[in-house]
Amino acid sequence: QERLKAFGKDSDFTPRHVHVVGAGVMGGDIAAVCALRGMTVTLQDQSVERIAPAIARAAKLFERRHKGDAKQVRFTLDRLIPDPRGEGAARADVIIEAIFENLEVKRGLFAELEARAKPDAVLATNTSSLRLEDVATALKDPSRLVGIHFFNPVPMLPLVEVVQGEATDAEVLRRATGFVRRIDKLALPVKSAPGFLVNAVLGPYMLEALRCVEEGVAPETVDAALVAFGMPMGPVELVDTVGLDIAVAAGKALAGEGAEPPARLLKLVGEGKLGRKSGEGYYRWVDGKAVKAG
Ligand code: NAI
Repeated sequence: QERLKAFGKDSDFTPRHVHVVGAGVMGGDIAAVCALRGMTVTLQDQSVERIAPAIARAAKLFERRHKGDAKQVRFTLDRLIPDPRGEGAARADVIIEAIFENLEVKRGLFAELEARAKPDAVLATNTSSLRLEDVATALKDPSRLVGIHFFNPVPMLPLVEVVQGEATDAEVLRRATGFVRRIDKLALPVKSAPGFLVNAVLGPYMLEALRCVEEGVAPETVDAALVAFGMPMGPVELVDTVGLDIAVAAGKALAGEGAEPPARLLKLVGEGKLGRKSGEGYYRWVDGKAVKAG
């Protein structure tokens, strides 16, 4: 931790405006954390309806963090601006993409963002499993793209991986690191490799837990064992929290396209049961808590 705290200390980058594209699980929380740290944030998604739940979640977070100080909550909320047309991109110092894990859609978006962004704005992707290089070639200048990889839940977890692609410019990396420090997170510099560091270690652990479930052990039993061992959350509940679709994509990226994910995981995804965000996965989710699925 001490080494991570020192990383990027030399950066004097002071971003004022952040533009986040994708108001889902990650983008919504990334936007909220930036607003909490005093930056103005525009939050873009396909419609106002898709942005509204993220703003409602942010309001709850602000109330907790400001301990019910209504004035502070209002000020912070005022800094978080729904932006379905993406107008904020043109004035942002940092642009963070957190949309669906789909290479072609991300490439199209970055080509568009590059054309509208300020020349020195940091262009960042929160992708967990796509190759940074594959996204970067959609840009006229691929050296502008960096990975800023947050962990879920964003307001709780201090670590952020700052991903250097083959082409990423050193100054872009320095600014991305400076930004991460400005929002009081620990920036871990990583190379662009499958799973970066954390998921490369976590992936096999979570997969093994799902294999136990596949063999007939109840999710609650697997999770209770690992929690009793000392993990803050069981691995199956963690898969539900991350999102089952994300877990499939990440599994493929780590193990290669040929490796088949566990059958039950694929079945649940096929049924639209994506975990916490859809209300059901390996567990049912009631008021933010995992309960045994039917
Ligand atoms: P999500 O499915 O909750 O949210 C994605 C959002 O993007 C949706 O609201 C969707 O409407 C929006 N969107 C899709 N295409 C768009 C476009 N062209 N323009 C504007 N908005 C668009 O997804 P989630 O889980 O937040 O993941 C987003 C990214 O973050 C992915 O790249 C994923 O790999 C990465 N990630 C996810 C983590 C997790 O635990 N879920 C952890 C770390 C990274």
